[in-house]
Amino acid sequence: MNNTTDSPRIAVIPVAGRGTRWLPITRTVPKELLPVWKRTSASYAFEEAVNAGCNEIIFVISPDKEEVLHHFLQFDSSDLGPRYSQESFESLHTRVTIKSCIQHEPKGLGHAILCARNDVGDRPFSVLLPDEVLMQNGLKRIQAFTPAILLMEVPYAQRRNYGIVKASQQDSIKQDVFLIEDMIEKPEPPLAPSSLAITGRYTFTHEIFDELERQTPGLNGEIQLTDAMKRYNQHHPMHGILFHGKRHDVGQPLGLVTASLDFALKDPAVSQALRAYLTQLIQDTPSA
Ligand code: UTP
Repeated sequence: MNNTTDSPRIAVIPVAGRGTRWLPITRTVPKELLPVWKRTSASYAFEEAVNAGCNEIIFVISPDKEEVLHHFLQFDSSDLGPRYSQESFESLHTRVTIKSCIQHEPKGLGHAILCARNDVGDRPFSVLLPDEVLMQNGLKRIQAFTPAILLMEVPYAQRRNYGIVKASQQDSIKQDVFLIEDMIEKPEPPLAPSSLAITGRYTFTHEIFDELERQTPGLNGEIQLTDAMKRYNQHHPMHGILFHGKRHDVGQPLGLVTASLDFALKDPAVSQALRAYLTQLIQDTPSA
């Protein structure tokens, strides 16, 4: 197992997907720039990577999503959390290099990661899916276990929406640390090997790129990251680390609302007024 000194310092953030669940908005506005409370949805993954010690962030963009890159090249201190004062923000700019590479067609998440191969080279790296806003730093949890996946428990019926792993607990003391034995993308619930779902936080060594190169299209005709990880895992055993924090799926409308509420209720400037409004709203609104 690697120790923290070998932790990846490069993060790949893919933002080249179609965003069909956000149509019609995504015909003109990338979903990564939709607001979650006061910031863009993708800025949370960016901040998570920076706070986990990454000093190089590579955005995989599509040709029509250059504004996502511009947003990050031009962000200022108010685009990040309160811990970034103007001063620390300036030091962040000198510490973090932002790069991009193009995925010309949305051929799937696995293909998007492969597009970053030249920039990553042979260094270990992290992947963060910006559709997932975590209320605690999930990347930090997995970095010391590279290669690793952040896992979460999901209810039975929801297993069909995730990659699900078969995994064994490493020892009775570290109950949140698993060794991955197998994984299956979006199984019907009776076929799911466990209740442990893959979240959008991963760390890899560069050998994953060889598996992605070999990968043929799978579910929905896309190059699936999970399919390549299955083979990678046979030679580079992956750890799964259970996440106990809260996660919002902002790739779809309900998640964007719950994430915004979560942040707004923690914002002293509005929390009291919002709480009062929500209490009244719930009383006055008959359930649909
Ligand atoms: P999703 O499948 O959740 O996003 O991919 P999507 O395809 O954009 O959205 P829907 O399902 O059509 O609504 C997870 C992440 O992988 C990126 C997406 O941008 C998102 O951040 N992705 C996906 C790519 O960069 N390229 C792809 O070909 C597919």
